[in-house]
Amino acid sequence: MNNDVMKVLLTGEEIEKRVREIAAEITRDYRGESVLMVGILRGAVVFFSELVKRVDLDLRFDFMVVSSYGSGTDSSGEIRIIKDLSQPIEGMNVIIVEDIIDTGYTLKNLKKLLTTRNPKSLKICSLLDKPSRRKVELEGDYIGFKVPNEFVVGYGLDYNEKYRNLPDICVLKPEIYS
Ligand code: IMP
Ligand code: MG
Repeated sequence: MNNDVMKVLLTGEEIEKRVREIAAEITRDYRGESVLMVGILRGAVVFFSELVKRVDLDLRFDFMVVSSYGSGTDSSGEIRIIKDLSQPIEGMNVIIVEDIIDTGYTLKNLKKLLTTRNPKSLKICSLLDKPSRRKVELEGDYIGFKVPNEFVVGYGLDYNEKYRNLPDICVLKPEIYS
């Protein structure tokens, strides 16, 4: 285990089991349809790649980079589109794949923006959800796990760009965050 980790909240094995369940749900819900999976870089990368392998549909990929946080753990309430989609989404079934819903600002704003582009449908799939931190009304359509109000890293999630490669979802030792 990484030396900076205080505890493991979800093991890689637990996550992979849940990812398979979500993939099966998506496969069922969109049977006969094509879907554009939009991964939000960089945090969703690990979840995205585990998920898409198990979705048995006509899939396309695209990616966005949005930023709502500085380098710390506090949300600014606004998002910046740093990299937009590389194609129009009019008439398409779009699923946004995100690492975590925290305050909800990022996905609320992103959903608003993408809705103006007239997709056929638009849903949100997030590995983690921290409902106790919500500042705006926003619900995910596919959620892996609800987590308590603790800053977590691993499986794609970072603290100051580190720890994304940890195979489990972890909480770091308090001294690392200060
Ligand atoms: P929101 O706009 O507050 O919902 O923030 C969503 C973004 O904040 C996520 O995509 C993450 O990049 C980041 N974030 C929120 N909570 C955590 C956490 O516990 N660990 C790592 N990143 C987090
Ligand atoms: Mg982040």
